[in-house]
Parts: sequence; C-alpha cells; structure tokens
Amino acid sequence: MRYEEEYESALNDPQSYWAAQTNRIAWYKKPESILSKTDFGTFNWYADGELNSCYLALDRHVENGLAEQVALYYDSPVSNTKEAITYADLLERVKRFAGALKKQGVDKGDTVLIYMPMIPEAAVAMLACARLGAVHSVVFGGFAPHEMAIRIDDANPKIILTASCGIEFEKKIAYKPLVDQAISLANHKPQNTVVFQRSMLQADLNNSWDLDWQDFQENVEVAECVTVKGSDPLYILYTSGTTGQPKGIVRDNGGHAVALNYALNNVYGMRTGDVWWGASDIGWVVGHSFIVYGPLMGGCSAIFFEGKPIKTPDAGTFWRVIDEYSVNSMFCAPTAFRAIRKEDPNGSLARQYDLNSLKWVFVAGEKLDSSTYGWLVDLLKVPVLDHWWQTETGWPMTAPMMGWENPSKERIGSTNKPIPGYDIRVLDDEGVEVERGEAGNICVSLPMPPGVAWSIWNNNERYYSSYLESFPGFYHTGDGGYIDEDGYIYITGRTDDVINVSGHRLSTGEMEEILSTHSSVAECAVIGVPDELRGQVPLGLLVLKAGENISEDELVSQLVQMVREQVGAVACFKQAFVVQRLPKTRSGKVLRAVLRKIAASEAYTMPSTIDDPVILDEIQDVFSARAK
Ligand code: COA
Ligand code: AMP
Repeated sequence: MRYEEEYESALNDPQSYWAAQTNRIAWYKKPESILSKTDFGTFNWYADGELNSCYLALDRHVENGLAEQVALYYDSPVSNTKEAITYADLLERVKRFAGALKKQGVDKGDTVLIYMPMIPEAAVAMLACARLGAVHSVVFGGFAPHEMAIRIDDANPKIILTASCGIEFEKKIAYKPLVDQAISLANHKPQNTVVFQRSMLQADLNNSWDLDWQDFQENVEVAECVTVKGSDPLYILYTSGTTGQPKGIVRDNGGHAVALNYALNNVYGMRTGDVWWGASDIGWVVGHSFIVYGPLMGGCSAIFFEGKPIKTPDAGTFWRVIDEYSVNSMFCAPTAFRAIRKEDPNGSLARQYDLNSLKWVFVAGEKLDSSTYGWLVDLLKVPVLDHWWQTETGWPMTAPMMGWENPSKERIGSTNKPIPGYDIRVLDDEGVEVERGEAGNICVSLPMPPGVAWSIWNNNERYYSSYLESFPGFYHTGDGGYIDEDGYIYITGRTDDVINVSGHRLSTGEMEEILSTHSSVAECAVIGVPDELRGQVPLGLLVLKAGENISEDELVSQLVQMVREQVGAVACFKQAFVVQRLPKTRSGKVLRAVLRKIAASEAYTMPSTIDDPVILDEIQDVFSARAK
C-alpha cells in the first residue's frame, strides 16, 4: 500500500475509506451507518454496528488458534515477578472476573473506576468491564486522592478496583488508604472497593464495602460477552484541561476497535504473533490503546512492564526486556531514553544485550530533542520514529506508516506526516490558514477518522467549547506548530495551559487554583519551564499579599506539599519564585506565553496589549538572579 494513494482516498471519500476498514474486525453485526452526525455538531462512526471489544481482544483469538500464544508478558523487576499469560489463560481470568463483577451488580453502561499499578490484574479488570459493556475509568496511580475524588464524582462508579500497593523503585505506595481517602472526599459513594492483595504489602479491608479480589471471584459463573453498539462507550479517561476539572474523554467501542487495528498494522507495522511493547502505564491513553486493547486485538504478544527505565535495577532494564522477549517494536516517551542516557551515556549496558529483534522504536508524548534522537539512533541502529497524538484522538495523527511499502522518512524535529483520515491544517488566531512554514494553531478538518473521542462524559457543551468553537469546521488540538513544504508536521508545544512533564499531561491552571488558596498568596501563575530530563516541569510565580512576611523557602515548601497532596507526586511541582507583580494585558490576562519565553531564556516580542512593560524587566531580573 502506498501512503499518497491511501491518504488521498481517505481525504476524498472518508465514508468509503473507513467503510472498507470495517473488515479489520469481527462484528456481531456489521454497521450500516458508517458516519453519522450528532445533535451537538460531532460525529459517530459505526453507530449501529454491534460488537464487543473484549471479544475482539481475547475470545476471537482463542477461537482462531491463538489460545496458546502469549498475550501478555508481565515483567516486573520491582517485584521480581515474571509471568507469560496465554490468550487462553487471560480469557479465563477475564471471564471469571467479569462474572464476579456481574454478580456484584455491574451491568452494561455502569461505570467502574480502576486505580491499579502495572499488574496483569489491571488488564483483567479493564477487559472484564469491556466484556460486560461496563465503562471503565482508569486513574493513574501517581494521582492523589483529591484527583481521584473529582473523577469519582464525575463518573459515579458503581465499584472501585484497586490493589494493596504500587511500587516506585524501592518504595511501596499503599494504594488502598488513598482510595479510602478519595471516597471520603467524594460525594458519590461507590457500592464496593475490590482490593487485589499484593504479598509485599497487604491492605486492611476494614470498611463494610471492601472486598478481597480472590474472595470476590469465588463461586461465580463466568460471564460471556455482552453485545454493545459501535457508539456505546468503552471507557472514560480523564485528561488535563485548562482548569481544575479534568475532562472525561469518552471512547466508543466501534471506531476505537477499527482505528486500533488500523494503527497497529499500518502505523506500527505489527502483525499477529509479533512482540510489541508499549512502555507506558495503563493510566494514560498509550496504556489503553497500545498496552492493552491494540496489541491484543491485533493478536500480538504485549509486554506488560512494571518498573522504570532506570534503577530497576539499572539503566539496562529496557534492553534486557527487548532481548529477553525478542521485542519487535516498542513505544515510549523520550523522557525514558533521556533518563537511560543520563545513567549510561555511552550505552554500554545496551551492548550487553541482543537487540536484533527490534525493527524500530516509536516515541511520543512530548518533544523529542535532536540530541536524544541522535544518541538513540547511534546506539540502536534502527529507525527512531517520532509521532504525535493525544488522549482525545486515542491513536496517532501523524506518523510514518511502517506497515506500508514507502513509510515517510524521519525528519528531525518533525512528528512526520498526517495519517490517512487526518486533514491537518495550521490556522492563525482568526482561523485563516497560514502559509507552509508559518506557525499557528494546529487543527484538524472535521470529520476526524474513527477512534477519536467525540464527547466529554456528562458534558457535551465542554467538548464543543474546548475543541470545536474556536475554529468552526475544525477540531482544535491545543498544539502550536507548522507544516513544511513537503507536508511534514512540526509540533512546537501547547498553546494553552497544559504542560507535559515526563510525557505526563498536566494542567497549570489546576496548580494555580491550588496555590491561590494559600493564605499568603495574592495571585500566581504556573508555567512549564524546560527541563533536561523531564522535558518540562512546572514553575510557580507568586505575588504575596500586602504585609505578608512568610519566608520564601517556607512558603514554597508549603505550596509544594499542597500540590503533592492535591494533584499528586506526578505533578513534580518543586519550584516557585516570589515576584512583585505579574505581567498582564490591559484586560487583566496574565501573559503566560511571555513568561514561558523568559523562563526558557528565549527572545520575546513585547505584546502590544501589555499593561505595564516594566514588569517584564522585573521578572527577567528574578530569573537572572536565580540563574546565578
Ligand atoms: N503510583 C504512585 N506514584 C507514582 C506513580 C504511580 N504509578 N507514578 C509516578 N509516581 C510518583 C513517583 O514515585 C514520583 O514520586 P516522588 O516525587 O515521591 O519521587 C513522582 O510520582 C514522579 O514520578 P515520575 O515522573 O515517574 O518520576 P521518577 O523520578 O519516579 O522517574 C523517570 C523518572 C524519568 C524514570 C520517569 O518519569 C519515566 O520513566 N518517564 C517515562 C515517561 C512515561 O513513561 N510517560 C508515559 C506517557 S507516554
Ligand atoms: P496526552 O493527551 O497526554 O497524550 O498529551 C498530548 C499532548 O502531548 C499533545 O497535545 C502534545 O502537546 C504532546 N505531544 C504528544 N506527542 C508529541 C510529540 N511527538 N512531540 C511533541 N509533543 C507531543
């Protein structure tokens, strides 16, 4: 297949193009409606098709001769555990767990919250929900109870599934007390908490609603797949927006299944039986699409890794995994490779392993810097492929098509070309398309292809105002960038208050809301500043209330603790400076874009709307003094 022809054909006749792709999956009833419009200006793909995502990931393979193939290789250097779980084993576990959920009253359309570390039971939990047509919402383990409580109140889960602990390097993080605290903070009270007890740290099951994971599955009837519609929700995944209220991105069943099969084969170039590694966490979209659903639907053997790229036990752990399981391709955030490089700059650990199985490496989630790119290519001698997507899209928007005969070559700084179905345009703030090479807002012409989320849980208006309102006829990605003469896309960064810390998406607006509740803070701004390891980290700028005499050190340490307690350790909020005033427009908006430039020591042009230009000099002085 040739990229140019496929791209044109998806652009000119999306309905026929994506109708043909329905053959990729096994429907109970094939859709008659390929693309339909909803009342609030969005779209549905395959709305009347009937299917089950768990059937596609498991039962279908067992029926078709893959029963004894490994579905998941669980590799956990932090708990010294390895397990090869076949498709037949995984199906049995999922059937039983789904049966237990059903017995407990979980039905099609009910929501279930999953707060779990990277253990196979987490995948069992997700797939069991899918089997019943229940909607799961996975919350990343690095989020604090306050964040979980917000999600509990928005998603109203019937049941929470958790484990006694997660393991971060050597540290055991007790998850159950965090769940208990989240439930006590939330208004909605789930019916039960089901806890998987890990041997290294057992949880107290001291609430009347607590259940033990194993007991929960005693004497239950296994559950078969429930039929759902193409447009029925498979999961909700909360992601950071610009406020303290995260957005519950809703993924459908039909478009998602077609898109993941398409991406796995065509973008990532994986085939049935290949070994694939999505080195992320089920708490993020990568984990949903390319640790669990994508590789399993595609009949691959997927690595399910619990650990970090370094110190578990060393910076050779990724190379060891590639060698041990003969990984054919992997995906991870550039931060992971920066961390490995920092520990092992000469790559001597990599040379201890046989990495010949590896065909190429994909990276995404944050900017790939040219230095890390060069280091990795030299070390691995395989293509290192930057590509770009978001929680909302669920699968890549730009990437080389490694499953086809002429994948576009990498170009340093670019995340490659648009994938068929994504008509990407760069618009200025007035919505006019800019010339090639000129930077602006990266948008996608509507309709977008299957798999992209078309609603926010309980809040369709917010979907419209977040993504569709600013540029009518387009989806607004929130990223800035440009397209070069040859159609390659370059992502220069977010144009809103979202930052990416180690590839983890966080809201600076939310951190500002927390800082401003401190009694000494009159106003504040949080911006993302460049960081050698994590790509970006948050930095607070604080204006004190008149007459406050708290020391800066004391204030900052209290604020760091507040963000840690309310957002979670994952926010990595560790620094803040006191400033006299914040630069604003005449209408009172903080000039965050200029602050970001000052923090990154980049040149900036004085905004014409600035109220008092002197403030920028004051801020510049604060940064210069700190840099010394
Ligand atoms: N459960 C509980 N706590 C968690 C957690 C989880 N699942 N994930 C992270 N945390 C905590 C960490 O323990 C750490 O807490 P600390 O401040 O007490 O040390 C904090 O959140 C930050 O975690 P992390 O960003 O992972 O930093 P780290 O110092 O532990 O590790 C790297 C640094 C570079 C090794 C790590 O960030 C990494 O592997 N990055 C790869 C990025 C990635 O996979 N992104 C996924 C998106 S595609
Ligand atoms: P998330 O929703 O967590 O996947 O984060 C999506 C955001 O990460 C995007 O909007 C981008 O800002 C950023 N991002 C993802 N992939 C890349 C990439 N390859 N290069 C630069 N930024 C990226």
